[in-house]
Amino acid sequence: MSTLALKDVKHAVFDAYGTLFDVHSAAAQHQKKLGDKAQAVSALWRTKQLEYTWLRSLMQRYVNFAQVTRDALDYALESHGIADESLRQDLLNAYQQLSCYPEVPETLQKLKQQGLGTAILSNGTFEMLEAGVRNSGLKELLDGVFSVETIRIFKPDPQVYQLAVDQLGCDPQEILFFSSNAWDVSGSATFGFQAVWVNRFGQAPERLPGNPVLEIKSLDAVLKYFSAD
Ligand code: LAC
Repeated sequence: MSTLALKDVKHAVFDAYGTLFDVHSAAAQHQKKLGDKAQAVSALWRTKQLEYTWLRSLMQRYVNFAQVTRDALDYALESHGIADESLRQDLLNAYQQLSCYPEVPETLQKLKQQGLGTAILSNGTFEMLEAGVRNSGLKELLDGVFSVETIRIFKPDPQVYQLAVDQLGCDPQEILFFSSNAWDVSGSATFGFQAVWVNRFGQAPERLPGNPVLEIKSLDAVLKYFSAD
């Protein structure tokens, strides 16, 4: 664990999928049609989605996150022997309207009250992110939405974290970056952000470089560090 340097923090920047938005809420909405395969399909969909971002970045074959998300879903459905175009479309539509985790609005509001800027830094397209933000009622609580769409490479390429630094005009150390994805914590901490691991699912730490300054179970757990200040 690295040390939290609270006095340096100017911006709270958030990963989107899995951190603000519950990626498994899409399959949960269509649980009836997916039956006992719902959880497995959802898990494979997410795993493949991330793998495709890493592989496409390595291959220098960028397509946007909406395409990656479709491709990953197609892989997951076929792997589970599901060929149902209307279900496929329903799942993709649900992904555009993901729910945020319950503590997100209040945490954003309280961090803003502490004088921090708030922003998203995500692999998602602007269209996907704006739909999620709108759907979860977060529009007024976020000062910025930064998408890799402008640089055409995915996390954890350092260019992605640099994008937030460039957009905010600050030093990496001034960004408190929240992600539930341990590999994203690793990438952002290595880059120089103060990274907070929102370990929602009690996962084991990755064996990768870069340490979080905090490990918490849900976003609101960060607030006690601010009120103690
Ligand atoms: C994102 C993915 C990594 O929002 O969750 O960038």
